[in-house]
Amino acid sequence: MKLYQLSIFWAVKVALHLVSSEKRSGFESRIHNGTAAKIGQFPWQAYLDVDLRDSYVKEGGAALISNKWLLTAAHCVSDAINITVVLGTTLRGGQDPSAFRTKTNEFYIHENYNNVTLDNDIALIKMKIAVTFTRNITAIPLGGYLEEFVSVTVSGWGDTRQDLSEGMEMSDILYYTELTAIPNDLCIQLRNDSINEKQVCTISDGTSGACRGDSGGPLVRLVNGTWTHVGIVSFGTGFNCSLPTGYIRTDSYREWIKSTMKKHSKKCSFKKL
Ligand SMILES: *[C@@H]1O[C@H](CO)[C@@H](O)[C@H](O)[C@H]1NC(C)=O
Ligand SMILES: *[C@@H]1O[C@H](CO)[C@@H](O)[C@H](O)[C@H]1NC(C)=O
Ligand SMILES: *[C@@H]1O[C@H](CO)[C@@H](O)[C@H](O)[C@H]1NC(C)=O
Ligand SMILES: *[C@@H]1O[C@H](CO)[C@@H](O)[C@H](O)[C@H]1NC(C)=O
Ligand SMILES: *[C@@H]1O[C@H](CO)[C@@H](O)[C@H](O)[C@H]1NC(C)=O
Ligand SMILES: *[C@@H]1O[C@H](CO)[C@@H](O)[C@H](O)[C@H]1NC(C)=O
Ligand SMILES: *[C@@H]1O[C@H](CO)[C@@H](O)[C@H](O)[C@H]1NC(C)=O
Repeated sequence: MKLYQLSIFWAVKVALHLVSSEKRSGFESRIHNGTAAKIGQFPWQAYLDVDLRDSYVKEGGAALISNKWLLTAAHCVSDAINITVVLGTTLRGGQDPSAFRTKTNEFYIHENYNNVTLDNDIALIKMKIAVTFTRNITAIPLGGYLEEFVSVTVSGWGDTRQDLSEGMEMSDILYYTELTAIPNDLCIQLRNDSINEKQVCTISDGTSGACRGDSGGPLVRLVNGTWTHVGIVSFGTGFNCSLPTGYIRTDSYREWIKSTMKKHSKKCSFKKL
């Protein structure tokens, strides 16, 4: 029965990464009941293939925020050894010969990340080489505070299936959907679970949302004709991707993002003559 299921899963904060049964771990999923993205429509969207310490693999999303740095969820990269970053494509993995692919093992997880409550579920990935911006690959600026009832867009290769009770499946194509940011107290009421002020939730018309595999991907908002990054996909509600999705508020971590990037960027120093 549906009600029974809801009461079991209602309060469960499910990290939205994908774990598959064979040598795969983490949740992957594509946007639930979304629209297929066109090449260049979300040029900051990155696909992550993460090699884990236990030889499992996790898949997720990230957003390019400079020519070397990506913003993602901590739960996508915790226990990572190597991360393959793919940019400039709507096709998952390496199916597109014109995609940019690079491997890195440099990433920084928030010091206070809690893998149970998913508080501070934020991480930065640094690529070994800088990417050249094109029509298909561009960084997205960090956005301001996301107000209530604003329209936002989420994108990813997460699970698109309606029935998630069995297994999980990444999408081969990048999907997106439009959602509405809701007040935190409404999110707490809908999910019957606490969230903090550095998190935010979205709802849809009841048929779409971020899903397993969309984790780490960007929630974006169009402000005065410019797309800005306002959230990182973090958690869902039970096994129903039409129910509220939770994000890390980008604006709450602006200082952490700036200082972490600064701390780990090579200084350009003058040579003494
Ligand atoms: C990480 O990737 C590099 C480059 O492909 C490879 O040489 C290295 O063995 C990998 N490390 C691990 C621990 O898998
Ligand atoms: C959470 O972190 C603890 C401590 O690092 C670890 O023992 C545990 O396995 C982690 N749990 C999950 C669900 O990743
Ligand atoms: C953008 O991607 C498309 C599809 O892969 C490709 O045909 C096109 O050359 C790319 N454009 C640039 C500027 O990289
Ligand atoms: C809400 O959560 C509380 C505490 O976990 C629980 O006791 C209660 O049964 C839940 N209510 C619903 C409607 O699921
Ligand atoms: C998921 O939630 C939506 C919105 O409340 C509901 O209409 C739908 O029946 C639910 N799906 C499942 C499989 O429980
Ligand atoms: C998907 O979304 C569309 C438009 O929002 C809606 O009409 C349709 O019923 C949804 N499909 C499913 C299977 O929920
Ligand atoms: C949008 O542009 C207008 C006019 O330049 C400005 O007043 C407003 O503050 C801008 N809005 C945001 C959210 O930046």
